[in-house]
Amino acid sequence: MTDLQKGEEAHEAKARLLIVDDEESMRYYLKRTLRRHHYQVETAESGEEAIRLVEEQPVDLALVDLMMPGVDGLGVLKKFREIDPEALVILMTGYGTISTAVESMRGGAFDYITKPFETEELLLLLDRALAQRATLRENRELREIIDNRRAYAGLIGQSRSMRSIFQTIDLVRESTSTVLISGESGTGKELVARAIHFNSTERRGAFVPLNCAALPETLFESELFGHRKGAFTGASKNKLGLIERANGGTLFLDEISEIPLASQAKLLRFLQEREFLPLGGVEAKRVDVRIIAASNRDLGLEVETGGFRQDLFFRLNVVPILIPPLRERREDVPILASHFLEQFARSRKKVAKAFANEAMIALSNHDWPGNVRELENTIERLLVLHDEKPVLGPEDLPEQIQGKIQPRFAVKQDVGSFREAQQLFERDYLTEVLRQAKGNISQAARIAGLSRPNLHRRVSDAGLDPNDFRQV
Ligand SMILES: Nc1ncnc2c1ncn2[C@@H]1O[C@H](COP(=O)(O)OP(=O)(O)OP(=O)(O)O)[C@@H](O)[C@H]1O
Ligand SMILES: [Mg+2]
Repeated sequence: MTDLQKGEEAHEAKARLLIVDDEESMRYYLKRTLRRHHYQVETAESGEEAIRLVEEQPVDLALVDLMMPGVDGLGVLKKFREIDPEALVILMTGYGTISTAVESMRGGAFDYITKPFETEELLLLLDRALAQRATLRENRELREIIDNRRAYAGLIGQSRSMRSIFQTIDLVRESTSTVLISGESGTGKELVARAIHFNSTERRGAFVPLNCAALPETLFESELFGHRKGAFTGASKNKLGLIERANGGTLFLDEISEIPLASQAKLLRFLQEREFLPLGGVEAKRVDVRIIAASNRDLGLEVETGGFRQDLFFRLNVVPILIPPLRERREDVPILASHFLEQFARSRKKVAKAFANEAMIALSNHDWPGNVRELENTIERLLVLHDEKPVLGPEDLPEQIQGKIQPRFAVKQDVGSFREAQQLFERDYLTEVLRQAKGNISQAARIAGLSRPNLHRRVSDAGLDPNDFRQV
């Protein structure tokens, strides 16, 4: 990269400001001053023009005169906040009365500045506003990243197939290779897509999902590529396509097998050229987007029967990820079941419950036609139905699952490490001890032949709460 390019990039990183003032001398002065301080500056001479500009392309901060003919400063403020609830607006007022100031702050202005002002005063105010916005954004991004990055966006599994999926995620997350995820409904395709996106440190843009099955052909293209005002009846303003919203990030094309044939050609063209034309547009746009597609149908088969273009299939199938149904990786059931148990308990601010051994075996032996989603729903329902029970036994399970109780390890399954088996045993054991002691720690310690502190530590390590056993 040349120094010139670097310089341009640094300049590009500087905030984009919009000055809205009906007074030409003011626009001229502000534009010159702020450009000298390396801001990117655009101007508008009326509220209406400002709104048009911002609808077209958002700015980082708008400096808006309060008193203007037509749409005034407060009107612009209101409209900007409608377009972007985080829009940063500073109002300029020649009157500086308390009432307008209060009103503008209530309307969501960052601050106001009274004309005439010193350049220095304005620069400080801009700095403060942009810094605060950056902090808010970073915080939100961090929260999102932490939430999602923790254990691969919450993706869980220890079976061999899931372990190999984790490996693939690690391999592709920093690249922009197209990924095609296949698997039955409810196997976790969207979650895998999110894991790829949110575990990437490079891709800071958004994760934008589009369900291809939910859209008729005409809407599909305008959703994906956007449209210009007047491109078709009903296109009353310019609209940004999802592909652009995903710039720097990931576009998730869910149920890709359902995309209309006509649109397949357009999508293929985009994948080849990395360029697209909004409906009614004249100039092709370039974006840097990673595409992840998902399907619960066998796309290869769809190609054979003519429902899906072969060339598009090849373009999508660069990195294939196949998620097997849950019944083919039963060793994931216990860990998923415990995870959901904990998750629901947390969201309802309760202490997590446990499954008795036989219940866990029955869950593992069930076939789960709805896969992980069905397991998740089943457990949520169990918790609602058996709110008072700390330990769920096989008798609490739905009938069709109860029938699946068989001796442990009767089904060929991954037995897990010694440590995991020990943890499982300890939890079951302590649950039974607490139940007999009705949650009384001293009594439980006596039954178990452990010291009180030792028992207490083991109980909390196992995620159990003696209080849960008190009323039983
Ligand atoms: N390995 C997993 N770990 C944790 N949760 C999972 C896992 N797999 C799936 N889930 C959960 O199961 C539910 C279904 O997953 P997801 O929506 O990703 O499935 P899908 O394959 O996209 O299904 P569909 O084809 O019906 O859209 C979600 O709530 C998801 O969080
Ligand atoms: Mg899905």
